[in-house]
Amino acid sequence: MFAKINSLGLMGLNAFPVEVEIEASKGMQSFDIVGLADAAVRESRERIRSALRCSNINFPVMRVMVNLAPADRKKSGSVHDLGIAAALLSVLGFCREEQTRGAVFIGEVSLSGEIRGIRGVLPMTILARQSGFEEIYVPFENAREAAVIEGIKVYGVESVAQLVLHFSGKAVMLPAKAVPSAGTEVGGLDFADVKGQQSAKKALEIAAAGGHNVLMIGPPGSGKSMLAKRVPSILPGMTFNESIETTNIHSVAGLLDKDNPLVCRRPFRSPHHTVSAAGLSGGGSVPRPGEISLAHNGVLFLDELAEFSRPALEILRQPLEDRQVTISRVSGSVTYPCSFMLIAAMNPCPCGYYGHPSRKCVCSPRQVASYLSRVSGPLLDRFDIHAEVAPVEFSELSSPHKEEPSEKIRERVQRARDIQNARFKNTGITCNARITSELIREVCPMTGSAEETLKNVFERLGLSARAYDRILKVARTCADMEASQMIEKTHIAQAVQYRSLDRKYWGN
Ligand SMILES: Nc1ncnc2c1ncn2[C@@H]1O[C@H](COP(=O)(O)OP(=O)(O)OP(=O)(O)O)[C@@H](O)[C@H]1O
Ligand SMILES: [Mg+2]
Repeated sequence: MFAKINSLGLMGLNAFPVEVEIEASKGMQSFDIVGLADAAVRESRERIRSALRCSNINFPVMRVMVNLAPADRKKSGSVHDLGIAAALLSVLGFCREEQTRGAVFIGEVSLSGEIRGIRGVLPMTILARQSGFEEIYVPFENAREAAVIEGIKVYGVESVAQLVLHFSGKAVMLPAKAVPSAGTEVGGLDFADVKGQQSAKKALEIAAAGGHNVLMIGPPGSGKSMLAKRVPSILPGMTFNESIETTNIHSVAGLLDKDNPLVCRRPFRSPHHTVSAAGLSGGGSVPRPGEISLAHNGVLFLDELAEFSRPALEILRQPLEDRQVTISRVSGSVTYPCSFMLIAAMNPCPCGYYGHPSRKCVCSPRQVASYLSRVSGPLLDRFDIHAEVAPVEFSELSSPHKEEPSEKIRERVQRARDIQNARFKNTGITCNARITSELIREVCPMTGSAEETLKNVFERLGLSARAYDRILKVARTCADMEASQMIEKTHIAQAVQYRSLDRKYWGN
């Protein structure tokens, strides 16, 4: 007897089709799995044997051979359990060929016959749909996640016994209800809570408008962490595609909410400064996405930047440029996207009061220099905007004056983004911070006096080529905020001013 069931495998974000072939013939009772299966897959024999027993199904007294095709591709984990179980049900006559032909089965089977949730259901469902399958059987726990994808019937299976009843027609399962498409969500903490700090707020607004990376420096308690946490509230809502991209990554990491699986709010990740380099970039024997990928399409906030380990900080450099990270392992290499806005905050010295207007800093110049040198030049260069967060004045804190709410700021940010979307239509670029060097001259036309100013600054400050490009990009955003086509002198001046802190603190 022979049967074939469709299943799926996953490597990083890439799902691939797997066919579960089963052959049962007369002979001594045995149950073998071949097809480059790892230990977890081979163990599925024991799980399935026990699951069938607990579901009152006798294991056939036969020689059973399962092959996971393609045989040259490594299969790992417990995702094929349900497919193997369905194949057994099929040779045992519990389901007919036409019931499983257009369907895919993924899920882990437990000893008692229950179906356990797995990671990465969303990318696998997307592939199933693209490959033209009509139905997908997933663990009940992951049903809502799979139902995000339209055009494929999703069955959330609770147990092997339920599957048997379903195929026999005694208790047919209903497909999971489609999750309503993402009404994009913003919200959370609001800028209205932050008193004063107008210049820092302006810097964050420009950063949000152009997707620029920001470094905030200031004394303890000045509100740096407070400001950073409110950035998601002024970013434009996510598009459906962005939602799917981010949800895919969170699905592979197993971080989705069972009831609201679609990520419709821009992620805000703030790993603690003791995070390892692998925790940031991703890793593990089957590479999982790290913090930078979990922050995809959102914000990565590194609070107390100078406290992060050097390897952790240096690993950020390449992904910040490439917007993706590749992790290589013996089992193969995996690429995860990581297009995020980096926001970092730090004190200027160990005691925190270097450069403070009224309190005295107790650090020696050497201590200050060594503290600041933990942030390397190349990393510093990747921040387009530096914002000094000054201590808040008492009068500001106690003033009854109402601060501008995030919603108002977000409207301005959205207007600037609309201009950018029109400008970068069909180029694959999403915002000013991502302008490529080939395109920069074309999309950043300057007035004569702006050009003159930039030339002076470049010569006077001895800027690097990267710094030059970054100033232009920030100036582009400043111009977009005023709906100005040409970059004017004031926009250049504004952009240059946002790059002045590296000279103030790191200059000598
Ligand atoms: N501008 C402000 N308006 C209202 N409250 C503020 C402001 N700045 C600071 N605070 C209050 O001070 C607290 C500390 O601020 P926050 O943690 O953001 O400071 P920080 O700059 O990150 O300090 P550190 O350098 O020690 O991390 C906040 O939780 C808030 O209650
Ligand atoms: Mg802080």
